[in-house]
Amino acid sequence: MNRRELFKSASALAVVGLLPQVAIAGTNGPDAADKGPRETLLLDKGWRFHDGDIAMPVLITHDQTYNAAKAGRALGAASPAYDDSDWTEVTLPHDFVSFQPIENGTNVDQGYRRRGIVWYRNHLKFSDADRGKHIELQLDGIATFATIWFNGTLVARNWSGYNSTYIDLTPYVTYGDSDNALVVRVDATAMEGWWYEGGGIYRDAWIVKRNPVHIVTDGVFAHPVKEGDEWQFPFEVTVYNSGKAEAVVDVVGDIIDPQKAGSLDGAIAKGWASVKVPPLGSLTVNIPMTRTGLYQPPRLWSIEKPELYWASAYIVEDGKWRENALIGGHCLDSTQINVGFRTQRFDAKTGFYLNDKPLKIKGVCLHQDHAGVGCAVPDGVLDFRLRRLKELGANSIRFSHNAQNKALMDACDRHGFLVMAENRNFNASPDYLEQLEWLVRRDRNHPSVFLWSVFNEEPMQGTEQGYEMVRRMSAVVKALDTSRPVTAAMNDGLFTALNVSDAVDVVGINYQQHQYDAFHAAHPDIPMFSSEDTSAFMTRGEYKTDAGKHIMASYDDDAAPWGETHRAAWKEISARPFVAGTFVWTGFDYHGEPTPHTWPTNSSFFGIMDLCGFEKTAFYIHQAQWIDDRPVLGLAPHWNWQKGQKVRVVACSNLDEVELFVNGKSAGKQTADRLNMNYWTVDYAPGFIEVRGYKGGKVVRKTRNETTGKAVALRLVKDRPTLIGDGRDAMPIRVEAIDAKGRVVPDANHKVTFGGTATIIGLGNGDPNCLEAEKGDTRSLFNGLAQVIIQAPEMAGNATTVINLTARAESLKPANIEIRLDAPKAATLRQPTMSPMMVLDSWFRAPDATTHPDPNQKAADTDMNSWAWFRPGELFGAAKADGYSLVAANYTPFASIQKNGGRIVFTSITGACDIYLDGQAVGRKDDPAPAALTVAIPPFVGSRRLSLVFKLKAGEPFGFAGLIRIGGPEKA
Ligand code: GAL
Repeated sequence: MNRRELFKSASALAVVGLLPQVAIAGTNGPDAADKGPRETLLLDKGWRFHDGDIAMPVLITHDQTYNAAKAGRALGAASPAYDDSDWTEVTLPHDFVSFQPIENGTNVDQGYRRRGIVWYRNHLKFSDADRGKHIELQLDGIATFATIWFNGTLVARNWSGYNSTYIDLTPYVTYGDSDNALVVRVDATAMEGWWYEGGGIYRDAWIVKRNPVHIVTDGVFAHPVKEGDEWQFPFEVTVYNSGKAEAVVDVVGDIIDPQKAGSLDGAIAKGWASVKVPPLGSLTVNIPMTRTGLYQPPRLWSIEKPELYWASAYIVEDGKWRENALIGGHCLDSTQINVGFRTQRFDAKTGFYLNDKPLKIKGVCLHQDHAGVGCAVPDGVLDFRLRRLKELGANSIRFSHNAQNKALMDACDRHGFLVMAENRNFNASPDYLEQLEWLVRRDRNHPSVFLWSVFNEEPMQGTEQGYEMVRRMSAVVKALDTSRPVTAAMNDGLFTALNVSDAVDVVGINYQQHQYDAFHAAHPDIPMFSSEDTSAFMTRGEYKTDAGKHIMASYDDDAAPWGETHRAAWKEISARPFVAGTFVWTGFDYHGEPTPHTWPTNSSFFGIMDLCGFEKTAFYIHQAQWIDDRPVLGLAPHWNWQKGQKVRVVACSNLDEVELFVNGKSAGKQTADRLNMNYWTVDYAPGFIEVRGYKGGKVVRKTRNETTGKAVALRLVKDRPTLIGDGRDAMPIRVEAIDAKGRVVPDANHKVTFGGTATIIGLGNGDPNCLEAEKGDTRSLFNGLAQVIIQAPEMAGNATTVINLTARAESLKPANIEIRLDAPKAATLRQPTMSPMMVLDSWFRAPDATTHPDPNQKAADTDMNSWAWFRPGELFGAAKADGYSLVAANYTPFASIQKNGGRIVFTSITGACDIYLDGQAVGRKDDPAPAALTVAIPPFVGSRRLSLVFKLKAGEPFGFAGLIRIGGPEKA
């Protein structure tokens, strides 16, 4: 395989959005372990879930206490031998909180959903061919406090729900048939925010197998920068060697133009460096890059045309890269990431520039959850959300107030959004600086990222202490990336003698719009922008504020006391060139933080769109404010009212003039007002309203709302024509109640039940007051609409090519929609897992005896030294003399085996022996030749002691060459 082919296969996987880093499927040859490129395997299946905590056993005796303090000997539910066979099987991503009912008395900001402590377990299988590889577990996000054990050893703690954990499992892995127990205890009683945070392993998990000499995770930094008129190609690769010997390797970097990837390898710049990496050492190498003959001034990444290039890094056996044509067989590891060419700068007087062109930041703040799925948002739904924001005319996103799913960052690169990446915890102590460092290291290649934010609204922002903390946090960012400014979202403290604004590069101001001028006057050289504003309220499809019913009209009349309406907030920003732009609170409604109403209200009203991504009037308002390159003409409300009612009508347009017609009769022409919008109050009569938008005196656009008949049928509308049949792809389906003419009935609130072959993973309707479950198969419409999120099955060959979703409601004609499955471009590679099985892997061996020992014999409780611990799998070797060897293990069978009995399966015993259970003989092996043996065990409640007495013959081997497990009676 040459370099081009290597990455062709890699990019196919990248296209389906599967891989955290582009990777190549493993080679299968015998030398795969020391030659093959990495395998990146999804670990979404095989998980078992326990809702609630499981107390650790109380330690009483010395023996228990001593052993519990040892590697590999975790107790209780953390122990490899724990019985999880009756736990619920779940697939990742899994936000367990989104399955909980909405209950008064639980935390308001978390959307009245119970959180608590839960456990996850999985059983991984590694083949003998994996021996010698570097095996890493990657957990993209666990909310909130996570403790992770692997084969009984505590391997990581992660105290933030928003950052990833990468764990080198290699030292603890067992190969062959054995079970590798991965256990995660999640304490989601802990909260890091004041919004819905979800709980559990709510992002993806991966097993990455690499050569011991490999590029570390997030170990490539190749964000191109322009110096003067010339593009520079900094290319930094961090190599780690977990092997046993020093490695001398070539580290190669390519910047590839995907449009040229067909000619040679498409590299427009390349370089290499030879490095020596000591065993268990790492090294960061800056590769000197030079342009190739294919170099041409690059196509720039922009909002309108987000051009991406690839940065590919390889580790190649010493001296082999120069052969160029055929490095495949010599490539030890490789990875590929997207990069983009763009420049950015903030000017304190005139705002922000992307590629040297002024760009007013038209941004939204977002939390990460979506209707139905909580925080476990599939990539397909993330993509849907970004497409909705493009339609809105937004060019930027502030990910408030935490790091995001990696797939979302990639999607922002592809769709062309600028991203203000934000760190969760304001803290300059080592653990927290590490979280910030992780964020910058992971995200610094994304062309979308243009600001690093170290906090949001911190009380210490106006103090010397706050200043000192930011100074340290900023230094951590700068050590990794100097190409984007550091900011902080301040809502106070701007004018104290020493404050955070003195420590950042660009000041973000939350609300406080009356301070813009004063701050700018006091600091004319500090660039600034609105990191957060608005916080206005709307309920989709409602046009009368009713405090008693917790309803907010969609006319843009209501905002939080600290905020402004959508119109007022933007007016302040658009009027001031020195305010680089806005981040409206928020793009979508989110679960939790219900404001201004609480119970039964369980989600916010702040969104420009509701929780499902259905637009409110604010959507048209921002389209009119933000979109310059196409005509916009939004109209509200619907036209189903009571005869004689006075109705306020709003039109939102970026055209010159707007004229409203009621049943064909003009209600007045107005100069279109992009800032204030245009309002009329008219008498209702059934029929229609129409607004006409004029440009240069000509009607260029019309928008009409018609009085509908009563709802007669349901309609299902796909977000995209097809799903990828990979078991992961998902899409929202819009559910509408329609009248006889196919018009959406704006006040239909029918209860709808869904069926068909599609897997439903979540339901929503955008009503902040709705207490219905977001899981299951039933959901009411809210003002004519609901949403169902369906997930594709994994296609077995080409067997399932179509799935369907049906919808039924009383008195309405049901709907059925078919969704075709496209074959995945590349198979989803998954880490093999196995069903829970009890492996007896912890044994003790007594000193050899000359007479047959008592099988009940034990070491004294305080004696840690006369018996030897061992794990079956390898023979003891040849006996020194004739005699006896007693070995024993204690275990508690799985509940079903305690009840029904079962079998002890010795996969291979060498030597003659007697077998005892609690001192009772249960089996015997007379022939010393290696053989498997199965012993039936009767039902028994509680723990048991299994012992064997080997009859030794001098010079002959004995012991267990294979594992020992306890199985059920019928099947082992
Ligand atoms: C801000 C805060 C946001 C959200 C918002 C609601 O002060 O930064 O996280 O709480 O208020 O208006």
